[in-house]
Amino acid sequence: MGLRILGIESSCDDTAAAVCEDCKILSNIVSSQLNHAKYGGVIPELASRLHLAQIAATVRAALAEANVLLAELDAVGFTAGPGLMGALMVGTSFAKGFALALDLPLVEANHMEGHLLSVFLEPPGPAFPYLCLTVSGGHTQLTIVRDYLDAEVIGKTIDDAAGEAFDKTAKLLGLAYPGGPLMDKLAREGDPHFYAFPEPKVGGLDFSFSGLKTAVLYFLRDRKAEDEQFIETHKADLAASIQHRIVGYLLDKLFKASAETGIKRLAIVGGVSANSRLREFFAARCAKAGCEGFIPPFKYCTDNAAMIAFAAHHKYLAGRTTDHSVTAFAS
Ligand code: KG4
Ligand code: ZN
Repeated sequence: MGLRILGIESSCDDTAAAVCEDCKILSNIVSSQLNHAKYGGVIPELASRLHLAQIAATVRAALAEANVLLAELDAVGFTAGPGLMGALMVGTSFAKGFALALDLPLVEANHMEGHLLSVFLEPPGPAFPYLCLTVSGGHTQLTIVRDYLDAEVIGKTIDDAAGEAFDKTAKLLGLAYPGGPLMDKLAREGDPHFYAFPEPKVGGLDFSFSGLKTAVLYFLRDRKAEDEQFIETHKADLAASIQHRIVGYLLDKLFKASAETGIKRLAIVGGVSANSRLREFFAARCAKAGCEGFIPPFKYCTDNAAMIAFAAHHKYLAGRTTDHSVTAFAS
């Protein structure tokens, strides 16, 4: 019998649990909290309460699907941060109680570390080192990953995350929350060259998205002053043009980092890596630049516990278990 790890993830609005055995994912359960949609964004207090309501059943489902008994587990991995404090506290407290009751070692896995390693959840994944662009609702980061537990951040957003750029501009178009997937779908029917939104200007390998959001806001305000129906008439074209700008900008930075570091193995992870145009353009640019490209399958792009179980596996092997004084951290 191999090393069996239960992973628990509760950093934002997905209550997730997974079981892996020697890095092979046996189950991956995600209970998404759909209740936030009507508020136009994640309500932290509501997220905490829903995690509390869902976590026991989610863990039970992960164990059942993996066909693993409590007595067959070797360790419990969990996300202590970064994320929403109250949400993280639910997963952290549950993991501690679970480990205490079953006398299991506790392994703290960082949420960002989980995303970085999500490219390995469908083997074989890249060889080291690889460059990883993490794009989610909370983060936009460029990292050199030298080994499972050895990563260096070389660029990050100075304001909004890429997912926020999608969600906030989608909201301006009147789309529901989260707007990223809806924008992706709508953009398929639109013209990406309908309007050239300005490229964000920030030096080096850092990112900025707040200017784009403002540019979209003012553009729509001015056009609506001339034509009340402007957004309705051009919704798909607007979605395609905004998406085109975000995707082009993300890829330009990733390939700039590749040129500067000489690393030709590239990965994109996190919720925004589910974007179809990003996936398509990434593959095309990798082929053109002679790079090897990696994006996890959809189920591992957005928040999940399989990546936490996987990260915990490597920490456990490295002897990096934690005691029960560990606490959740927001950032
Ligand atoms: O990684 P994730 O599930 O949660 C965080 O850690 O934030 O990412 C969620 C983000 C949201 O902003 C959502 O709009 C975006 O990922 N997203 C997408 C797509 N699917 C999810 N953005 C663009 N296109 C998509 N297909
Ligand atoms: Zn995430």
